[in-house]
Amino acid sequence: MSKLYSVFDHAKIFSILHKVATPCYLYDTELIGDTIKAALSYCKKYIKNPVQIHYAIKANNHPELLQVIKNSSLGADCVSGGEINQALRSGFEPQQIVFAGVGKFDWEIKLALEEGIYAFNVESMQEIEVINLIAGGCSKIANIFIRINPNIDAKTHKNISTGTSLNKFGVSFDDILLHFLPFIDKFRHIKFIGIHYHIGSQITNMQVYRDLCIQINENYQRLIQARINITDINVGGGLGVDYQLAERNPITNFNEYFKEFANNLSVPKSVMIHFELGRSIVAQSGILLSSIIYIKTTNNINFAIIDAGMNDLMRPALYGAKHSIKLLEKSDSNETYSYDIVGPICESTDIFASQVEMPILKRGYHLMIQTCGAYGRVLANTYNARNLVNEYLLN
Ligand code: LLP
Repeated sequence: MSKLYSVFDHAKIFSILHKVATPCYLYDTELIGDTIKAALSYCKKYIKNPVQIHYAIKANNHPELLQVIKNSSLGADCVSGGEINQALRSGFEPQQIVFAGVGKFDWEIKLALEEGIYAFNVESMQEIEVINLIAGGCSKIANIFIRINPNIDAKTHKNISTGTSLNKFGVSFDDILLHFLPFIDKFRHIKFIGIHYHIGSQITNMQVYRDLCIQINENYQRLIQARINITDINVGGGLGVDYQLAERNPITNFNEYFKEFANNLSVPKSVMIHFELGRSIVAQSGILLSSIIYIKTTNNINFAIIDAGMNDLMRPALYGAKHSIKLLEKSDSNETYSYDIVGPICESTDIFASQVEMPILKRGYHLMIQTCGAYGRVLANTYNARNLVNEYLLN
């Protein structure tokens, strides 16, 4: 039985109900701290190369969480100038920041160069030309990874798969090797340091990472054959978490994850390996706390209408995601009933769960939607002119 973290402790959450208005996100920084400790320790156990884990800020950018993450020595993976600024404000070292994204604006490139970030993950030839030009204008040399599209199916939801040839991300290795690298020397303000990959998110099948490693090894060998030396490889992120049994698996299986890379990645020990983990660092540490506004039974369906909506948590509407939902109040009977748990937004996709068995639900009771620490509040919006949902720390 794992430790009872605050985020799963009903009594603790009950005790703060009078201090918070629902709907709201609650975060457990102790769980984040322990998660990072586990990640770092398995990383150290298996990865014998120089290594850096960059936290993907897009998953959750709450300033106090960023502080905890930065204090644990992780770097940052940013996808916009705004995220670079957030990372810097939270004290991340510029030299631990990587900057990704298919559509970087000129001002963002300039900001990244002026702040001296570690490297750009570039996604097109034209982007390299632009970075070279802007770097020349401020007399800098930009380190770049080129993002490879390896055409690997990440076996996850299609909306969060990024590494197949139909996706907009990256460029094919052959295109780079044939049409670009032979001319790299003419870009005097660019230093090509390595190759980058990110094949998708919420990956639970470790075979996918084995396939990725095989491709990385092949790509690396072909670079060597072409007499192109790289010093870094960035394998991206994507490690999944358990959305069904959050209490039982508060910390994801970093052991299997890093072991997969250790067993399958075959590059010299001097090459620095970068990981970009987002969800696996923060997902289990957040819940969305909500109050039941109404109960209605119609056409033989029991609806529990709650005050959280799809604007507060987009994942079910966007990806059909199924988050486990728990009743905060103690029930005095073991009987359960089938409910559809829905929000107040005027959209049929505003539904968090369909036909779930719950103890009897009543107006004023509280539901906790679990595993909301990643891609929860960051995707929230003000649709239906609702306020942006609040966030609180539990610790
Ligand atoms: N690196 C790159 C280049 C990425 O695009 C992402 C996430 C990550 C790293 C971090 O991936 P993670 O370890 O968190 O899987 N909103 C979706 C997930 C979108 C992921 C976007 N990219 C969801 O709620 O499932």
